[in-house]
Amino acid sequence: MKVTLTVIKADVGGFTGHSNVHPKLMESANKSLEAAKKKGIILDYYVAKVGDDLQLIMTHDKGVDYKKVHELAWDTFISATAIAKELKLYGAGQDLLVDAFSGNIKGMGPGCAELEFEERQSEPVIVFMMDKTEPGAFNFPIFKMFGDPFNTAGLIIDPNMIGGFVFEVLDIYTNKKITLNSPEELYTLLALIGTKSKYVIKRVYPRAGNKVSEKEAVAAISTDKLHLIAGEYVGKDDPVAIVRCQSGLPSQGEILEPFAFPHLVSGWMRGSHNGPLMPVGINNSMITRFDGPTRVVGLGFQIANGKLIGPADLFGDIAFDNARKTALDIADYMRRHGPFEPHRLSEHEMEYTSMPKVMNNIRKRFVGLDESTTSD
Ligand code: F6R
Ligand code: MG
Ligand code: MG
Repeated sequence: MKVTLTVIKADVGGFTGHSNVHPKLMESANKSLEAAKKKGIILDYYVAKVGDDLQLIMTHDKGVDYKKVHELAWDTFISATAIAKELKLYGAGQDLLVDAFSGNIKGMGPGCAELEFEERQSEPVIVFMMDKTEPGAFNFPIFKMFGDPFNTAGLIIDPNMIGGFVFEVLDIYTNKKITLNSPEELYTLLALIGTKSKYVIKRVYPRAGNKVSEKEAVAAISTDKLHLIAGEYVGKDDPVAIVRCQSGLPSQGEILEPFAFPHLVSGWMRGSHNGPLMPVGINNSMITRFDGPTRVVGLGFQIANGKLIGPADLFGDIAFDNARKTALDIADYMRRHGPFEPHRLSEHEMEYTSMPKVMNNIRKRFVGLDESTTSD
């Protein structure tokens, strides 16, 4: 059967501050999705949280961009927002940027990643969820999974994968996309995706020769940019991704491996700082120190006739203890820079934070070197 896996997330109120999701919001989302499952809108669901983001993981058989599922997610966030407002949770309704649902959740604030595929004899998938960062934070690990033989042994050992993979990359500022073939265009791919604030991997496809159809994306990443929708800084775009595993695709372990290196990402504190990406189990996903450090959770599921079997809390394992220790050491090191770059983002990236408002206040006080200064 063809199954669609849809992950839609939003920050609809933090408990406390921007750190976590209140259990009542989880309860409300569970109720809403249970009712939709009974009505047959979705086949199955799992409600998760990472930091202050509420994640709706849903399966159905109607393909990507299915209006009823997007609307369900929107309505679920609206109900949760009502509770968040009642409890005066922080930033209640923060990511719901428009007044009413208009056919597709994209462009309305919440983040969305979806994949439609023919369910294989066994269908393992991982849903990755990050808090306090941006979609480009996935560039490094997704590239390692599907493009780097030093990470993914299958790229040289599995005859399905030796042909490589196709990367679809978005320029999130112009909304244009480019498709690049790995391995032969690998350097061009890296030239783009190294600029992770602008070029973002959106999807990955297998190539001819793989037993998984080249028409089916095997990874999808949410690329929604809040400030581009709202026209001003309203928080980071904390992304999610779905990655299918095994049997012609990178194994679960090859897909987790990139996260053993806590690479630097942007989005820590006020969306304005670089810091390490720390892999954590779901029970350690509350954001604390300096509103971070940035975290990633990985939930494994087996999909069985559209049902979600799981999750397995993959980064809860001790194999990621060293990555956490390294991340915490890097966090100490980065924090000692205080307001200095490269802990704080570059001037260009700060344009998309609340910094321009500060700069506007002092702009007029800059004078030419040959002009006399006047004090205010
Ligand atoms: C939120 C975030 C936080 C906030 C910070 C200030 O995603 O990254 O670091 O930016 O807590 O929040 P406000 O301006 O709401 O007080
Ligand atoms: Mg928040
Ligand atoms: Mg968040």
